[in-house]
Amino acid sequence: MPSSVMPMINPTDGRPPAAAISATGLRKSYGDKTVLDGIDLHVPAGSIFALLGPNGAGKTTAVKILSTLITADGGQVRVGGHDLTAEAQAVRAAIGVTGQFSAVDGLITGEENMLLMADLHHLSRQEGRRVTAELLQRFDLTEAAKKPASTYSGGMKRRLDIAMTLVGAPRIIFLDEPTTGLDPRSRHTMWGIIRELVTGGVTVFLTTQYLEEADQLADRIAVLHDGKIAAEGTAEELKRLVPGGHVRLRFTDPAAYRAAAAALTGAAHDDEALALQLPSDGSQRALRSVLDRLDSTGVEADELTVHTPDLDDVFFALTAAAPVPAQPKESAR
Ligand SMILES: Nc1ncnc2c1ncn2[C@@H]1O[C@H](COP(=O)(O)OP(=O)(O)OP(=O)(O)O)[C@@H](O)[C@H]1O
Ligand SMILES: [Mg+2]
Repeated sequence: MPSSVMPMINPTDGRPPAAAISATGLRKSYGDKTVLDGIDLHVPAGSIFALLGPNGAGKTTAVKILSTLITADGGQVRVGGHDLTAEAQAVRAAIGVTGQFSAVDGLITGEENMLLMADLHHLSRQEGRRVTAELLQRFDLTEAAKKPASTYSGGMKRRLDIAMTLVGAPRIIFLDEPTTGLDPRSRHTMWGIIRELVTGGVTVFLTTQYLEEADQLADRIAVLHDGKIAAEGTAEELKRLVPGGHVRLRFTDPAAYRAAAAALTGAAHDDEALALQLPSDGSQRALRSVLDRLDSTGVEADELTVHTPDLDDVFFALTAAAPVPAQPKESAR
């Protein structure tokens, strides 16, 4: 495994790695405003976890608590195997944080920013220079290294930000909106960097406004809304939560189309396109049932497509102004 960071393997018994981050009943209020209303989070080591939520949902608040920058009002949290309150120092040693707003000092060069971080991590002069050169190279900043950081583009600053976070070789990294404001190419570069980190055994906890980003990167996604986790799961699991998924079957032979239409009750007919559309959650079981019904009539579709709602559908459904009902679908429109 190519790695400059240690994977989180429990050295004592070699069992699968424990949770890198686990929080139960996490609470935080500002005055009478409840920002986090008892949330649970569980992030396995070596995975990417995305916390998704609209502006003001409490994403940054959660990151700040988990990274010991502010204290929670309640809840139990372990990060990197350490209790957040009792062993804050050990937690700090295990993590790196790239805040929502840049920590880069524009008045000094990129290289000087890096060396400053190396000093903060008590690296020797020689080691500091080595790590700095290696990271600047890795983040394609070698050429710009000697220029004041204020002259960097947004994407370069963001890369420098993350490079600075990596100086201490953290096992767990918090990235608060790592790609906000970046153009599509820089965003893809950043995704590559994040994936590479995880390949090296690092755990990444990121927040994002971009559903596509969570979809692309995250092993698990939690949607934060109204102080609670409105939904949690893989991108695919979340997409199945909202209605709108369907299976579409297209035929070229009108006779086959008619036979299938007769067999598949409940399907919407598109006579012009010779297509049938059936509501479906896109699961294996649902697909099999459709295919079995087709098989039993002895016809074959020429094309089968599964449409699952995308994360946008999920996000808007879960973070709509009205609270999500505990028992959905009762007053489905
Ligand atoms: N120090 C503070 N004092 C008072 N209220 C605060 C403080 N920090 C955050 N808040 C409030 O807590 C809520 C959550 O803020 P937070 O920054 O965590 O949201 P966010 O999800 O990161 O939003 P964004 O997407 O805009 O970054 C907001 O209503 C904010 O105004
Ligand atoms: Mg924020």
